[in-house]
Amino acid sequence: MEEYRILVLYRSKHGSTKRYAEWIADALDADICSAENRTYKDWSSRLKTYDMLIYGGNINGQGINGLENFRAAMRKEHVNRPVTYFCVGSYPAYESTVQTHLEMNFVGEDDLSKINLFYFRGRLDYLGLNFLEKRLMGGLFKAIEKKYPEDRTEVENELLEAYYDDVDWSKKEYIDPLVDHVKSFMTEEQLADLEPRAAANIAEREKQEAAEAEAWEAEMERRKALHQKNLEADEAAMLKRMSKKRRQRYLEMKAAKAALEQSEEDLRILEGEDVPEAAGDPADLPDEAPADSPADAPEDFDEDLPEEEPDEYAEFREFE
Ligand SMILES: Cc1cc2nc3c(=O)[nH]c(=O)nc-3n(C[C@H](O)[C@H](O)[C@H](O)COP(=O)(O)O)c2cc1C
Repeated sequence: MEEYRILVLYRSKHGSTKRYAEWIADALDADICSAENRTYKDWSSRLKTYDMLIYGGNINGQGINGLENFRAAMRKEHVNRPVTYFCVGSYPAYESTVQTHLEMNFVGEDDLSKINLFYFRGRLDYLGLNFLEKRLMGGLFKAIEKKYPEDRTEVENELLEAYYDDVDWSKKEYIDPLVDHVKSFMTEEQLADLEPRAAANIAEREKQEAAEAEAWEAEMERRKALHQKNLEADEAAMLKRMSKKRRQRYLEMKAAKAALEQSEEDLRILEGEDVPEAAGDPADLPDEAPADSPADAPEDFDEDLPEEEPDEYAEFREFE
């Protein structure tokens, strides 16, 4: 029996496309190779040695990462093998999603219906983004935040959860249609041969992922604590630079925002949503107002600062 040889190639900026590529390679007992930080020369000569190629890339605002390089390599090497594509983004998979990504990424292609593209929802790890990515995503998050909560769509609320956090929408079962599609190219014999190898791969991966999940949780705690510390330091520095009047106004607005958020939270609890699992005894609550209320504005700032000063961050406000 001839083995059906499959290569999974992928590019992943922050890991979720890589994880999908690994799940796919496990289920099909395929070879897997990252196209990250490599020129196509590193792997293009191998393309012809496979019966099926699978290419996956994360969606990054400009399209599917690395797709053009991959397609150029295919053309240059005259590779005439069936290709299955997948892409990973943070939006849910709507009915129109695949069509949209086909039209955006396969411009000039005569017949898009001949391209097998699958879409999977991935992970958004905001604190793991680089500076530029944070600004781009921050712009989107801020725009959503500016809307009244009741005007936000379900997806917008979901995306907002990823602001300053790490949200993972990936699900292993999303790969099933892609795996079934690739299997449809295999003979009965090849499929029977694949089954035990795929099962062993999947069991091994599950063990590995359980260990990684624990390490990841610890890493997230560390990142969040660091992020909080940086926010507090930035705020303290900003307050120090402000005039007394401006500082007072800032603290008043901050307290008003906290009070509003608290009353929204109270309302949700009253309406029966989000009931805390073990609500503490109200008698345990502190009697004192929160430390950041205007009455508690720190006294030890430099009072010689001018009353009004230019807003040096004006151009960045949009992205804050
Ligand atoms: C700068 C930037 C732009 C993005 N643009 C899109 C987009 O247009 N559509 C989408 O669904 N997801 C978009 N995302 C979300 C990523 O595609 C998503 O987080 C994906 O899981 C990342 O894959 P990776 O972990 O393999 O890098 C964007 C993310 C960043 C950082």
